[in-house]
Amino acid sequence: MSSLLSNRLARRILRPAAALVDKRITRSASGLRKDLDALRREAKELRVQQTELRNQQAELRGQQYAVGLLFDRTGRSGHRVPTPAEINTLVREIAAVTGEDGGPARRNVTIAFRNVIALEALAVGRLAGSTSNICGKLATVPLLRPPNEDVLEIGTLHGLFAATLMRMLHRAGTEARLTVVDPLVGSQLQPGAGMGAEPTGTPVRMDVVRANLALGGRAGIEARVEQGFSGDPEIRAAVSDRKYGVIIVDGDHSAEGVLADLEWVEDIVAPGGIVVLDDFGDASWPGVKEAAEKHLATGTSRLELLGRVSTSAFLRARA
Ligand SMILES: C[S@@+](CC[C@H](N)C(=O)[O-])C[C@H]1O[C@@H](n2cnc3c(N)ncnc32)[C@H](O)[C@@H]1O
Repeated sequence: MSSLLSNRLARRILRPAAALVDKRITRSASGLRKDLDALRREAKELRVQQTELRNQQAELRGQQYAVGLLFDRTGRSGHRVPTPAEINTLVREIAAVTGEDGGPARRNVTIAFRNVIALEALAVGRLAGSTSNICGKLATVPLLRPPNEDVLEIGTLHGLFAATLMRMLHRAGTEARLTVVDPLVGSQLQPGAGMGAEPTGTPVRMDVVRANLALGGRAGIEARVEQGFSGDPEIRAAVSDRKYGVIIVDGDHSAEGVLADLEWVEDIVAPGGIVVLDDFGDASWPGVKEAAEKHLATGTSRLELLGRVSTSAFLRARA
């Protein structure tokens, strides 16, 4: 090969080919330089985009934390972040119990949820129970069209559920007349059940109940608060002055306590009135379902089971 290159004739013959090779090498090198420059520009742009994404991610994490403070379980009975599946289940259950189609049920659940968030944020104390159960009760009662405006809640805790229900009924056109019964002894009483620490740290007291009822509009402000046990003769005498269109049974959760309340309810519920039995089928309170089944099995009850929404049973008094 070296002898071939040292040969002048051979060099002259090979020169055009060598020039061509040189030209191609120069052209490829300049192409590579251009590709390299483009890659460098692309890498720079990607670094800028990466920094922007990191900043956005940090901002979103900050926002998510703030949203979590509004909706998480701290200081109440559970988180307030229902999944789409949970809301869809509620809508189906409410539609089945009320006979309404899904439209009003979904509207009421959505409005109930907004009220729960707004009122619990402003309240002194909390609503009791899961988001599904609370929204289910709030959404269903107005759709069952109670026969009159008299509402009784047995077991009010901080009075916030009653206040929220007043708003839901008012939206549906009923400015209710409310009576609540609770011993209000400073903490939640549950005979036979070990109650954990109150998550809000707020006492169960008359002034607290009054502060929360005020969030329910005129019906809440003017509510009658009967301090005592639903089984007390003087409480029964005071409360039995009218027939109620809605009765929420949510006091003593033992089977004996619920049974006694249901027997009393038979006498004070208006024809066509709605009875809501809270925590029905809730594994934590087996006495509620046990008592309801026993009561309805007597065959003499005026109450008819309409169905269940989340962990509340809905009954209607026969005329
Ligand atoms: C589960 S909490 C009520 C929650 C409230 N209804 C709500 O939805 O936010 C039960 C309340 O009933 C009260 N209570 C217990 N035994 C009662 C009775 N025999 N009569 C009336 N209230 C009772 C408890 O002290 C407590 O305040």
